[in-house]
Amino acid sequence: MDIRHRPRRNRRTPALRNMISETHLGPEHFIYPLFLCEGNGQKIAIKSMPGQFRLSADNLLKEIAECQALGIQSFALFPAVNDSLKNSTADESFNPKGLLPTTVKMIKDKFPDTCIITDVALDPYSSDGHDGIVKNGQILNDETIEVLVKMAVTQAAAGADMVAPSDMMDGRVGEIRKALDQAGFTNTGILAYSAKYASSFYGPFRDALDSAPKFGDKKTYQMDPRNSREALLEAELDVQEGADMIMVKPALAYLDVIQLLKQNFSTPIAAYNVSGEYAMIKAAAQNGWLDGEKAMMESLMAIRRAGADVILTYFAKEAAQILRK
Ligand code: PBG
Repeated sequence: MDIRHRPRRNRRTPALRNMISETHLGPEHFIYPLFLCEGNGQKIAIKSMPGQFRLSADNLLKEIAECQALGIQSFALFPAVNDSLKNSTADESFNPKGLLPTTVKMIKDKFPDTCIITDVALDPYSSDGHDGIVKNGQILNDETIEVLVKMAVTQAAAGADMVAPSDMMDGRVGEIRKALDQAGFTNTGILAYSAKYASSFYGPFRDALDSAPKFGDKKTYQMDPRNSREALLEAELDVQEGADMIMVKPALAYLDVIQLLKQNFSTPIAAYNVSGEYAMIKAAAQNGWLDGEKAMMESLMAIRRAGADVILTYFAKEAAQILRK
């Protein structure tokens, strides 16, 4: 046979394959989302996310120390707020003595080298379980931003390195940037959830925080999974308004969107490998239906290959342990 090109020649040995590998994955690319709760000595398993826990501050600090030893430097924090503190205006979200700001302060005191990212959205604090303020069944945009701004400044004051608006209200990045600057937090970054889709893959996360919407869905603010040009618009607005990094969420069902933003923007791109994506692999692995470790590494690599500079993933610690070997 007259076969001049044999691409298999470059795949013949590990040395050859490693030499020409295009994508690199390391612990420096991970942001590890962690759930925190009140109390002491708490480590409460999250049923739909095997291997993930709600941690009280003492255990959270231990977890962060272990992760740092594995090379993970960045953490996204999500508080599980007691129902008694939730109300329709999410007032607890900007209480400087609340669970989140006090925990951020403790972390930054003990581990100043970490990058701590805090979520800006009302849902963990809202008795309606929505990311914004609800009136007559509608999610109010501008009234919500007034709360988001106070939340972001409170988090920055506590020491957050970046605030991450995940609410999808229009114009919130610009207002948050302005408020941070006015309060003197010019060095606090904004990681914008820019292309955040109304996804069924958030189910386990809402279990973890007990934050599912009490009525309806989030389709009037989160994006329609049928659209990708709309992601360009959302990203463009966030970048113009001052976002330092932009995010696509979820990751695996939206690799095309990650690639699209990578090709069109020069800000770093983050991708959120969400709770449902984690749960699917864990469940299949527990059933012996696929090799969980291999599926995890392949998914993370795919997210990087699509163009994500950083990946928010519940696999961070496990993957870092494998990468270390
Ligand atoms: C809330 C928020 C959600 C997630 C991160 N921030 C849930 C939602 O929008 O309903 C989901 C993360 C995950 O599923 O892992 N604003």
